[in-house]
Amino acid sequence: MAAAGSQTTIVPTDAELLQAQADLWRHSLYYLTSMALKCAVELHIPTAIHNLGGAASLPDLVTSLSLPESKLPFLRRLMRLLVTSGIFASDNNTEVETYRLNPLSWLLVEGVEAENHTYQQCFVLGTVSRHYVEAALSLADWFKKDLPVPVPSPFEELHGVPLLHEDTPKLDPELDRIVHEGVAAHDNLAIGTIIRECNDIFKGLQSLTDCCGGNGTTARGIVKAFPGIKCTVLDLPKVIEKAPADDAVNYVAGDMFDSIPPAQAVMLKLVLHFWDDEDCVKILKQCRKAIPSREQGGKVIIIDIVIGHSMDPTMYEAQLLFDMLMMVNTRGRQRSEDDWREIVTKAGFSDYKIVKKIGGRGIIEVYP
Ligand SMILES: C[S@@+](CC[C@H](N)C(=O)[O-])C[C@H]1O[C@@H](n2cnc3c(N)ncnc32)[C@H](O)[C@@H]1O
Repeated sequence: MAAAGSQTTIVPTDAELLQAQADLWRHSLYYLTSMALKCAVELHIPTAIHNLGGAASLPDLVTSLSLPESKLPFLRRLMRLLVTSGIFASDNNTEVETYRLNPLSWLLVEGVEAENHTYQQCFVLGTVSRHYVEAALSLADWFKKDLPVPVPSPFEELHGVPLLHEDTPKLDPELDRIVHEGVAAHDNLAIGTIIRECNDIFKGLQSLTDCCGGNGTTARGIVKAFPGIKCTVLDLPKVIEKAPADDAVNYVAGDMFDSIPPAQAVMLKLVLHFWDDEDCVKILKQCRKAIPSREQGGKVIIIDIVIGHSMDPTMYEAQLLFDMLMMVNTRGRQRSEDDWREIVTKAGFSDYKIVKKIGGRGIIEVYP
């Protein structure tokens, strides 16, 4: 600490002061971008633009959304923010201002039949739901409380139940439905890309257990691309009960903390970020029991965020925001390479390799 009298006082220049104030506006008001996005999703603006042929003027939108004409100037202001935030595109060089979809708003169009499309409406509605926002508002109070370990999330502490738990519907059945649908939409997005990018990782495998594989969407995609792999999906009984009858994939109902069906490789895709370090070590120890030695091709495949500041700044920011989402609402976290190394070593694995980066995620092979 600097000695009294020698502290460096920041004296901003006039330009720095004005910029600092503008930055303060931005950071204090970013929640309004989230709320503007929520509004666009609730009004179904992306679907309306899609149905209007992929481009729409403001009067077209007002008519198609059945809004009062008096709202046109307000809609212009909403769309201006959403375009500036990268949620829609606009054509500036036409006489009539026109709004278009971009890849982000395309994900918010309902009813698209395309390989890499899953409708992200529930992901947005879950993350900006009253319950998530209230949990975030309680963050400072939560920090001050000396809570027993394992520390409940602000969501659990405030609402009395954890998220994605069998008791969550008692808090609000609609929230529980939206969160489940949102997680499924999020996790199923870009499966085709992941399978293509993971070609080397799956090639030559004889068997694979997709641990926490849900209704088998990923496993079916893997078997389609690699018919030689005998694929098993492990999930909780209530999930497996609803899995489609499918000869291509073998479904096992069980608890990963008890045992995991043996296979040459076990995959944990978007699973570990939901759990704290202690539980991750327990899960990884079960994975280790389920696979053969490294010489026999045994490995665990982890697909999850690998936080890294060497990335593109917006990708890094997205990773950190996703980590805050986990911190506020779950006991889980997003992990850096150091964090991953620590838990795989604690679980008794000898080595690991980040074999690929896909967007903000990494594919980590872990060897016994
Ligand atoms: C976030 S999803 C996993 C996403 C999936 N791997 C994917 O990429 O689409 C979490 C899944 O873990 C399952 N699950 C939670 N606890 C489990 C446990 N103890 N044993 C087995 N599955 C569990 C849930 O039922 C849910 O299907």
